[in-house]
Amino acid sequence: MESTAVLSLRNASILQGDHRVLSDVNLEIASGEFIYVIGATGSGKSSLLKTLYADLPLESGEGSIVGYDLRNLKERDIPYLRRQLGIVFQDFQLLMDRSVRENLDFVLRATGHENRSENDDRIDTVLRRVGMPTKGHKMPHQLSGGEQQRVSIARALLNDPPLILADEPTGNLDPHMSEELMHLLEEIRASGRSILMATHDYALLLKFPHTTYRCVNGTLATTVQKTL
Ligand SMILES: Nc1ncnc2c1ncn2[C@@H]1O[C@H](COP(=O)(O)OP(=O)(O)OP(=O)(O)O)[C@@H](O)[C@H]1O
Ligand SMILES: [Mg+2]
Repeated sequence: MESTAVLSLRNASILQGDHRVLSDVNLEIASGEFIYVIGATGSGKSSLLKTLYADLPLESGEGSIVGYDLRNLKERDIPYLRRQLGIVFQDFQLLMDRSVRENLDFVLRATGHENRSENDDRIDTVLRRVGMPTKGHKMPHQLSGGEQQRVSIARALLNDPPLILADEPTGNLDPHMSEELMHLLEEIRASGRSILMATHDYALLLKFPHTTYRCVNGTLATTVQKTL
């Protein structure tokens, strides 16, 4: 069981500086599993995700993610860890001064991929994957919010990560676009990746039920998933 986990936290504390946001966090995600993290605003969802992509240090407890030990992570390991993760944010975080293709090529080059035709092929593949095969030449502002979020998911897929960390990916989308995005995430999971998604959107939990953890009372609790 341990060997198939792409992510494991044991007795972990999630800290924002001196402020202990969550204590005694235990979480395990197996390969191909989809998990939600819910909780009130300020309860620690983003802090938990930041710890997982090493934006915040893990200073107590144990943690491993895609083969990296979060307690013994060196500064120079962090870019390599992040290449093994697809990270998706609420606000898309596209570079607005360049086209969709250029956004994707920028990430490939920044992660050491210099071969133009290989990059073009990879970009075509991820754009097809997110249902945007003809939108590569568009500037981000020429796309709807839902399309921009698809591009950010294409970007997250570039390095073929086994695990996607998504922090309120539907937070800026209307209900229809949110559902479409969820269908896309479900397809991505069905292709063998794991997904950890922080969300406020309780309607989605009911429509797309998965194991759900809740940040509450300073810890991460498992909740019973309703399947209406
Ligand atoms: N950069 C920061 N520096 C210091 N404290 C922070 C920082 N970011 C968040 N916090 C604090 O950490 C706690 C958890 O915040 P966090 O952003 O993880 O919550 P959240 O569950 O993601 O909330 P939301 O639903 O509003 O996104 C809060 O008390 C918050 O004030
Ligand atoms: Mg947050």
